Amino acid sequence: MNKVLVTGGCGYIGSHTIVDLIDNGFEVISIDNHVNSSRKPLKGIEKITGKKIKNYKIDLCNYNRVRKVFLENKDIVGIIHFAALKAVGESSEQPLRYFQNNFNSTLNMLEAAKEFGVKNFIFSSSCTVYGNAKELPVTEETPFQRVESPYGLTKQAGEEMIEFFSKANPKINSILLRYFNPAGAHESVLLGEAPNVALNLVPIITEVAIGKRKSITVFGDDYDTRDGSNIRDYIHVMDLANAHTKALQYLMNSNNKTNCEVYNLGIGEGASVLEVIKAFEKVSGKKLKYKIGPRRKGDVVAIYSNYKKAKRRLKWKPTRNIEDIMRTAWAWEQERSK
Ligand code: UD1
Repeated sequence: MNKVLVTGGCGYIGSHTIVDLIDNGFEVISIDNHVNSSRKPLKGIEKITGKKIKNYKIDLCNYNRVRKVFLENKDIVGIIHFAALKAVGESSEQPLRYFQNNFNSTLNMLEAAKEFGVKNFIFSSSCTVYGNAKELPVTEETPFQRVESPYGLTKQAGEEMIEFFSKANPKINSILLRYFNPAGAHESVLLGEAPNVALNLVPIITEVAIGKRKSITVFGDDYDTRDGSNIRDYIHVMDLANAHTKALQYLMNSNNKTNCEVYNLGIGEGASVLEVIKAFEKVSGKKLKYKIGPRRKGDVVAIYSNYKKAKRRLKWKPTRNIEDIMRTAWAWEQERSK
């Protein structure tokens, strides 16, 4: 069976991707130091798939520890590198911590791919690399703008590190996946987003609805958009998960044209903050308490994807919409609050 190493396997996107990989016949091992996660998702994965996942609780910044995992697992066919710090606001307060962690962990995973001859490498990138894009929807060719945060810089620079690495190591194939806004949960509600402190829109909405928070503030309703609030491209986490499986299969079947390719992963449609709130109210039948507040520093006005390249080459397409996202996110919130 093809063995895949997932870093950040106990995290939100990592854990959902493990389920999709197992559903598609892969064997998975994980490295996760639980800095922003727990062992709980491993239980969820086991209940959904019937497979127990081995997780190595080590820090990816420690190359000696990383080596040991590869020495124990000599048959890894691919690395999917999710593990990273990802809170935009926090990254502005602790830039060095973000640089240390996100750069060193990526460097060590590339080093390991090289030392142990792992041919396929997939990197979690983000639409944040586009900054305040001048054209919408953004394609993979849309030029980068200056990033708004140290977190964004670690994604832009992470991509470039891999591009240079790929030029020097032609036998290793990489794919950079630029996620738009992942949200929602596995249908079984055995897995979902479980942040210590919710910072993203969808988990904040469900936390307000369940009573963990008093209300939500919409960060600005005076933008130049159809209703004045920011526009984002929300993609269901299981659709996103499946893109990783498709990307890995694509590389393993040698369908790639170059040894470092980049793909946007979104649904190709924008939803405004107010529309997301309305979608929640529709699927849950609950009224949400919200107020309008000032703009949040660093927010881009509007961004959504053109994902045609992933559709054409990876044969991937999203199958769920904003209501599916809100329905599963809400079911998950109710389950985990029991
Ligand atoms: C950003 C990055 C994304 C990154 C993610 C990690 C961009 C374009 N996106 O997402 O790449 O992976 O952070 O956390 O840089 N909002 C409110 N009230 C709230 C919370 C959010 O109105 O209480 C609004 C925000 O202003 C924004 C939208 O909801 O317009 C989504 O915000 P959020 O979920 O934080 O994600 P992004 O900032 O878009």
